Amino acid sequence: MRDEKSEFAIILAAGRGTRMKSSLAKVLHPICGQPLVTHVVAAAQMAGLKPVVVVHHQEEAVREALAGEDVIFARQAKTRGTGDAVRSALGVLPETGTVLVMAGDAPLIRSETMTALREAHGTRAATVLTASVDTGAHYGRLIRDSAGRPHIVEARECTPDQLEVTEINTGLYAFDIAWLRAALPGLPVHEDKDEIYLTDTIAIAGNEDRAGVVVHGDVTEVLGVNDRWDLAQARLALQDRIIRAHALAGVTFIDPASTVVEVGVTLSEDCEIGPGVVLEGTTSVAAGVVIEPYCVLRDTTVGAGVRVLTHTVSDGAQIEAGVRHLGPMARLRPGTVLKEGARVGNFVEIKNAILESGATVGHLSYIGDATVGVDTNVGAGTITCNYDGFAKHTTVIEDGAFIGSNTALVAPVKVGKGAIVGAGSVIVRDVPDNAVSVARGEQVDRDGAAERMRQRKKQG
Ligand code: UD1
Ligand code: CA
Repeated sequence: MRDEKSEFAIILAAGRGTRMKSSLAKVLHPICGQPLVTHVVAAAQMAGLKPVVVVHHQEEAVREALAGEDVIFARQAKTRGTGDAVRSALGVLPETGTVLVMAGDAPLIRSETMTALREAHGTRAATVLTASVDTGAHYGRLIRDSAGRPHIVEARECTPDQLEVTEINTGLYAFDIAWLRAALPGLPVHEDKDEIYLTDTIAIAGNEDRAGVVVHGDVTEVLGVNDRWDLAQARLALQDRIIRAHALAGVTFIDPASTVVEVGVTLSEDCEIGPGVVLEGTTSVAAGVVIEPYCVLRDTTVGAGVRVLTHTVSDGAQIEAGVRHLGPMARLRPGTVLKEGARVGNFVEIKNAILESGATVGHLSYIGDATVGVDTNVGAGTITCNYDGFAKHTTVIEDGAFIGSNTALVAPVKVGKGAIVGAGSVIVRDVPDNAVSVARGEQVDRDGAAERMRQRKKQG
């Protein structure tokens, strides 16, 4: 890696992306958990380059998406084409040296490719990375004159013969900075679009015999996103890359094609990921964990020895080692912590609650804003009534307590150590330690009343 202060990567991200037909600027559309431009910024940083991001459309949102990253922003006053965009970034560059230029809409580009282009560029004026495509409809074509000197013609300006050319401009370039400064003001304006094309620099360098062309073998890597179908293809390709890397690092995927794993996810050796599993955000899964089919985990930490059962949805939960049982069809929302030996069964929703070791919430319950003590049992259908229409309140279930089925615990409320709450209770006051509390209508048994009722009905 080179000294990161010495070389820059200009990332073009000012355009609106009309072909996306979206109210969101193109470079902000996410794939695999990050906006397109963030992927490019990350690759440039990995190559040891300092990103200079050119912004205009939804400038504030682009700046915000990259907040916290070590990048410089340059503002393009009006989106007058890629040549004009680069010109607006020149102010932050040193007088001499080399700069890489790349599009913020090509999210699959790898740092190794940037480094290789930089090496191949040497002391030329301009070097462009090309690739060979079957159908290159929207890409600029690399055309060579009879002397072999290259220039680029945009697809929309190509003659039918030129359109047949399969060597396309990937949009990744290396430039000599001093040369670029001198060349940009002389670029022609393409009148019909009122745009200045960066691609025209290649013809100028070509005429000086100072242009380089590097052909890249992997065409998926240079895929530029212009419309929603490109976006879908880019996501597939990037997803494939992410999952393959995890697989090679020791994770089993039963069905990679139906699995979603975002870039920020950490998986350890010997995890097994079932079909239809979605792992998002900063989810982290410890070694040996099995995640069964159709689980959705966002920002969730899963400890070792856990088996996350099928159809579990988790958002920000922390599932510790040795959780005995989870799901199917459990929903774990932010603030959930399941300690070793806890058990959460089917159709249970948990939010902002800690289940201590041996706490069991087996069926059909809502536990929110609560702590559930060691070796407690929370019966089927128990609800913590945490919201009174104005504020959220806390429920505390102390160690060893037993909550009968279909109980409503009206918070703020505490069930003391070892207490037993009868089924169907509505608990509005604290239950003392070791008490038995029953809070429901008394049962009335009228002998023979059912038979008398049937007789009356029969007689009409
Ligand atoms: C561009 C190239 C084309 C190449 C293709 C590779 C030009 C004229 N054409 O075409 O040869 O095959 O990329 O993907 O360069 N942008 C700005 N300011 C502007 C215009 C664009 O910052 O004024 C940014 C866009 O936000 C985008 C990038 O530059 O991220 C490329 O622009 P886009 O309009 O997508 O160019 P293409 O038509 O794809
Ligand atoms: Ca593009």
